[in-house]
Amino acid sequence: MNRRYRKTIIAGNWKMNKTASETKKFAEELKTLLPKAKWCDVVVCVPAVNIPAAIKAFKDMRVSVGAENVFYEKSGAYTGEVSADMLKDLGVKYVIIGHSERRQYFGETDVTVNKKVHAALEAGLHPIICVGESLEQRELGITMELIALQVKSALAGVPAEKLRRCVIAYEPIWAIGTGKTATAEQAAEVCTFIRTTVRHLYGARIARSITIQYGGSMKPSNAAELLAQPDIDGGLIGGAALKPTEFVDIINAANQE
Ligand code: PGA
Repeated sequence: MNRRYRKTIIAGNWKMNKTASETKKFAEELKTLLPKAKWCDVVVCVPAVNIPAAIKAFKDMRVSVGAENVFYEKSGAYTGEVSADMLKDLGVKYVIIGHSERRQYFGETDVTVNKKVHAALEAGLHPIICVGESLEQRELGITMELIALQVKSALAGVPAEKLRRCVIAYEPIWAIGTGKTATAEQAAEVCTFIRTTVRHLYGARIARSITIQYGGSMKPSNAAELLAQPDIDGGLIGGAALKPTEFVDIINAANQE
């Protein structure tokens, strides 16, 4: 983390978990546990149908609500999809784009990720753009090339003034939901590389101000070490974000000096 130049953001990614009533219960419990001092921003990304419940439940807490996906067209005959304007209108602030599960199971590509980033920014949302390599790609030694490609394609055509609203999450696929966390060194190496890539594209000032998260089995026991890395400015947390106590432990780790 480097709070002087950029925000620390701890974001939960609930994936396809929790009903609207469970959302309310989670918020009530979280409220009693959240630390008073504010150092990091807290975001909870919930399934689309739970967004209204989440907006209501987190209203009086300093917790922003995020979506887990968005479609890139503004409106029209796209059965089952949700537009960026619809999210914004509900009070959503962040949206996860290009999560590896969406790339793997729902056919998302670097091209659709880029279109979604543009749509989200256009609507005034803050995209959390996910990038990350598979185990095979890591073993082939092509992690950095792949990450550069994903970052550059996601940001293609995004002007500098809008980049300030983007968050990049480095999520090695082999660490997601596996309990296998990247070591702090592995995570830091890629996050630093992402910042360098942004610097080449947008210059030093903007690269210094962008929030880069790590995601992949982040939990209370490893959060402090990961967040101590200068280029890791927060976390995108799946499993451990489903339990208020664990989520708060990670928030507390981010609140350490
Ligand atoms: P995990 O998920 O923390 O359960 O590994 C992270 C993510 O997929 O964003």
